[in-house]
Amino acid sequence: MKRVNAILHHPLYRRCYGRLEELERERIFCCHQMTHLLDVARIAYILNMEQDMGLEKEVIYAAAVLHDIGKYAQYEDGTPHEQSGEKIASEILDSLPDDAAFFEEEKRMILTAIRGHRRLRVDAEPLEWLLYISDKASRTCFACPAESECDWSAEKKNMELKI
Ligand SMILES: [Fe+2]
Repeated sequence: MKRVNAILHHPLYRRCYGRLEELERERIFCCHQMTHLLDVARIAYILNMEQDMGLEKEVIYAAAVLHDIGKYAQYEDGTPHEQSGEKIASEILDSLPDDAAFFEEEKRMILTAIRGHRRLRVDAEPLEWLLYISDKASRTCFACPAESECDWSAEKKNMELKI
């Protein structure tokens, strides 16, 4: 997992993630920190195997750990986090050391998946679909103490474990 670890230890990632942690300290609703990011990564990897999608493990994990990295900006100035996240992720992916770099096509897939993770496009790419589904499936609404105050629609909430 050398390439994913290079992302997690990247100075820009640490900075954005640290700010997000501060901003979510008192949050009672879904947070966007490491537990969530790794839940998404692992659900996505399981689905990838179950459905024989053939996506590379580190590409899936990279998309998962980066997908909410722009969330701090959404709290700060309202920028939709799929937009700020794509920008930050692009900067991180373009500045990884040579021995931990992703191929251009992998970077493109990761950025497309981040950009599309909040609304599923009709013609979504495989990684984009996988990230969207796993992100939503990761939320344990059935066990959330703030469920009744949450503005997710009844049909969106996971009141039963599905994946
Ligand atoms: Fe997420």
